[in-house]
Amino acid sequence: MCGITGYIGKNNNAIKVVMDGLESLEYRGYDSSGIAYTNNNKLNVIKEKGKIINLKNNIDFNIKSNLAIGHTRWATHGEPNKVNSHPHQVNKFTIVHNGIIENYIELKEELLKNNYTFKSSTDTEIAVAYIDFIYKKEKDILKTLNYITKVFRGSYALGIICNDDLNNLYAVRKTSPLIIAKGTNENYIASDVPAILKYTNKYMLLDDYEIAKISSDNIEIYNQKLELVTKDTLEFEGTYESSMKNGYEHFMLKEIHEEPNVFKDTINTYLDKDFKNIPGFSKYNNIHIVACGSAYHTGLVGKYLIEKYANIPVYVEVASEYRYKHNFYDEKTLVILVSQSGETADTLACLKKVKEDGIDTLGIVNVVGSSVARESKYVMYTKAGCEIAVATTKAYLAQLTVFSVITMYLTNNKTLIEEISTIPTLIDNLINKDYKPIAKEIYKNKDIFFIGRGIDYSIAMEGSLKLKEISYINSVAYQAGELKHGTISLIEKNTPVIAISTDDTLSEKTISNIKEVKARGAKVIFVTNQNINDNFYDIKIDIPRVNELLQPILTIVPLQLLAYEVAKLNKCDIDKPRNLAKSVTVE
Ligand code: F6R
Repeated sequence: MCGITGYIGKNNNAIKVVMDGLESLEYRGYDSSGIAYTNNNKLNVIKEKGKIINLKNNIDFNIKSNLAIGHTRWATHGEPNKVNSHPHQVNKFTIVHNGIIENYIELKEELLKNNYTFKSSTDTEIAVAYIDFIYKKEKDILKTLNYITKVFRGSYALGIICNDDLNNLYAVRKTSPLIIAKGTNENYIASDVPAILKYTNKYMLLDDYEIAKISSDNIEIYNQKLELVTKDTLEFEGTYESSMKNGYEHFMLKEIHEEPNVFKDTINTYLDKDFKNIPGFSKYNNIHIVACGSAYHTGLVGKYLIEKYANIPVYVEVASEYRYKHNFYDEKTLVILVSQSGETADTLACLKKVKEDGIDTLGIVNVVGSSVARESKYVMYTKAGCEIAVATTKAYLAQLTVFSVITMYLTNNKTLIEEISTIPTLIDNLINKDYKPIAKEIYKNKDIFFIGRGIDYSIAMEGSLKLKEISYINSVAYQAGELKHGTISLIEKNTPVIAISTDDTLSEKTISNIKEVKARGAKVIFVTNQNINDNFYDIKIDIPRVNELLQPILTIVPLQLLAYEVAKLNKCDIDKPRNLAKSVTVE
């Protein structure tokens, strides 16, 4: 989704800092970019469609500037073109915006009656015009921004420059993420921490409806009563280098290679000789898990484990559905929201609704201080560190790890500690195998199927999502036993079927289903922890056999790497697949 960066400082470095920041936010997904910067007390705006390089080619980096805002836009209102790109400027105001102003049509009507005209199809141009309209009455920037927080509906993170006060950069947010970062003689705003890590690791979080007034050496945050509020300064634990590629060809590959440590760090947070940092679950007798995409898939694994071992009913739903459904919960229900970014709009909306209904919530979140983390009653962080590739890998594995820990905790099972210590090496061994020869067998196919039963079906769903999102090959996951009720008609000679079997109690049945597709010409890739040698598969991927509570953490690794190799052979933009964004902050 859209990325925002902003700079104000005495080092006159504005253009470089803002452009560096935009490049670090590329992973969020975008289709145009732009910058507004001051020079000799004049504000200049440059915008371009497509990749940031198009914008860079039009910028003179020798220009000294002490104030700038930049933006990468992921189109929502109006096609991705130069006019619709940000920053948008109306009279004295120039803004960049992440989010959606839901009542922009209503605001536009009011502005049209007051002789405003518009060039773009965006809600952002309406927003900046409305700010200008109110400012003409209020004649005070803080009062104006405070006023618009009461009028704008939807979500917004805004970086704002006003020609009447070029000594300050302003920002305001509701729902969409925004941080304020502190440097020496310079300060910054950004959608996410990686955008400023090259310059500082100190930042503060802006809460909903708060307004930041930022100069080179001062940051003031105001609440809705326009009172100054004090904010904690946080320090990001990682380094700029750790969020960069470290010699790997792609972030996705680097992040998969970090999985052994991510597993270790996540486990160590919640379990050493005993459990720690885990909220008390004893009062809940049913659990709902709500999330989107891959995070939803970890919820499905969580459901399987918690129901089987802890005997607690678990209901799992994608957030965009859960939000609009009649949900059966009460004071004995714990609603678990799973999110890497902690900013996914649908997940956040569910969290707010559930909270309003007085139900307890637990956020399983990766980004520290993100909205889901802040709004949830309890938080369990996944210790995956900064994840840049749009397709999640290490954060997904960390979420699986948290669900394994929760299940162990609920059953007071401390017997796995020894086995847990072997997992990082086992992940590493899986990572170091060569999946390219297998990828070569399937990368030209138009359709690829994943099948499995029980917990393996949940893993199959994630394997299939990983493959399709980065390689653009149509891929579907099916419960192995369900295939013959329709989908099997799609199987023809050489259709790849990736069949997963790690559950001994179901393997005979799964193998029968594999034989059914094999008999119809499928090319079967068998992913298993079982010692089976037979002729019902063409290729076998062996995974080490571990306790079922830990098994999914190993099963997913070859599937992530297979997706990576297939996408690479197809020359896809692996870290930034088309149409996708890292953090989906619109509903
Ligand atoms: C897929 C992927 C997405 C996210 C989903 C939720 O690789 O990354 O499906 O899992 O958009 O995002 P978070 O976890 O940030 O809420």
